[in-house]
Amino acid sequence: MALFSWNDSYSVKVTELDNQHKKLIDIINELHQAMLDKKAKDALEKIIGELMNYTINHFSFEEKYFAQYSFPGEAAHKKEHKNFLDKVTQFGKDFDEGKLMLSMEILNFLKEWLVNHIKGTDQNYSDFFNEKGLI
Ligand code: FEO
Repeated sequence: MALFSWNDSYSVKVTELDNQHKKLIDIINELHQAMLDKKAKDALEKIIGELMNYTINHFSFEEKYFAQYSFPGEAAHKKEHKNFLDKVTQFGKDFDEGKLMLSMEILNFLKEWLVNHIKGTDQNYSDFFNEKGLI
């Protein structure tokens, strides 16, 4: 069973960004399943790498729109992105070096952060982007 699933309350009303959020949820669920299946370290590293790369791409995508449309909440939003990426990058490094194991605590942190960010901070651009014609 998946750790969590996308539902309509997560929608930011921009299809492309909703799809990217769904993909992020899929990757975290994949990581959760791989842990339950006791997959080897290199298999977990591959998924963690995918999570990092996709997260970087997704944040860059949103931030490109912030700049393009002069979104007023840009600075605070970008700060949240950076703080999260710093944590995930540190986790990836510690995991690679064998200093930290993947755990439910880490998976729940990823899940909670993403849900709170999508349902909180990301919602702040929803109407703004819609008014700019992004749907
Ligand atoms: Fe969808 Fe601000 O990340």
